[in-house]
Amino acid sequence: MAEVYQASTTAPVNIAVVKYWGKRDPKLNLPTNSSVSVTLSQVDLRTHTTAACSSSFSEDTLLLNSSPQDVSGARTQACFRELRSLRAALESSNPSLPKLSSLPLRIVSENNFPTAAGLASSAAGFAALVRAIANLYELPSSPTDLSCIARQGSGSACRSLFGGYVAWQMGSKVDGSDSVAVELAPASHWPTMRALILVVSAEKKGVSSTSGMQITVGTSELFQRRAEVVVPKHMELMTKAIQERDFETFGKVTMMESNSFHATCLDTFPPIFYLNDVSRAAIRVVEDINRKAGKIVAAYTFDAGPNAVIYFEEQNSGLVAGLFKSALGSLDGWQGRDIEVQEATDVDA
Ligand code: PMV
Repeated sequence: MAEVYQASTTAPVNIAVVKYWGKRDPKLNLPTNSSVSVTLSQVDLRTHTTAACSSSFSEDTLLLNSSPQDVSGARTQACFRELRSLRAALESSNPSLPKLSSLPLRIVSENNFPTAAGLASSAAGFAALVRAIANLYELPSSPTDLSCIARQGSGSACRSLFGGYVAWQMGSKVDGSDSVAVELAPASHWPTMRALILVVSAEKKGVSSTSGMQITVGTSELFQRRAEVVVPKHMELMTKAIQERDFETFGKVTMMESNSFHATCLDTFPPIFYLNDVSRAAIRVVEDINRKAGKIVAAYTFDAGPNAVIYFEEQNSGLVAGLFKSALGSLDGWQGRDIEVQEATDVDA
């Protein structure tokens, strides 16, 4: 029997508080603006991936939640190619290493949350895929190095290589080598931060982020202003708010960012609607909570789907969870999950 080499890892979902929306290079997934995310708990929302290789496998395969996926797409191929070439370089400098770079790969991934429902499933998915193969190949690469590869699978995946608070620096080089993720602060920096996820719909989103971004870039005039003026200002405010654990600024920028991103979706022609009536009801509940508290103690954000993520601090969890339960609890198809921000630790097999 031919030997089977394998390694496993998990990668967490990250939710952007300064949004990535727009590619300046669609092939390399180079963004039109920088972004910031918070990586949610490893335990609650994650992709678990095992990467294996063996001469007994006939071709590269990928199973996601037990169903076979097409691996011939340019994004998956780019990740395989880059990781194989790093492994091949290791093998040529150390001839005693097994020649894994030339063996077919078998990837098996499981999500414990709805796939493609605006819960950043592709982010966790590509981050886990890249790290599992990097572990299998015993690459000495840092999370920032791997982020450059994961980015080519799905832009936001580059931020899921870290725990805590993460910035994706847009970079300026044409080859994308400086378009990487860096840690702004570990989760332990702000131990009271919490998130509540409202799963409004577990259905697949209507317009994929890749095609949505392209139509926005091509048709929205608001988008230009967002990329050039709004996001640079929000990046600065958000980075400082995280450094200073200033929830009021963190919350205000998070909500204004989400609104700005969805405004450019509405300004896209034809318009893209990711929010629905339940999403808008969630926004009103957050406004109620903040009115009652007399300051910003809760903040909503929505990605490319109707599901809400609500950030708050532990000391306000009674107020936030209580109001959400009474306001939205009776609506169909609604489900809340309490998530702590945690470090992304590696689980190797
Ligand atoms: O990485 P993609 O192609 O799935 O795009 C993600 C886009 C948003 O989730 C809407 C924003 C973000 O920064 O994650």
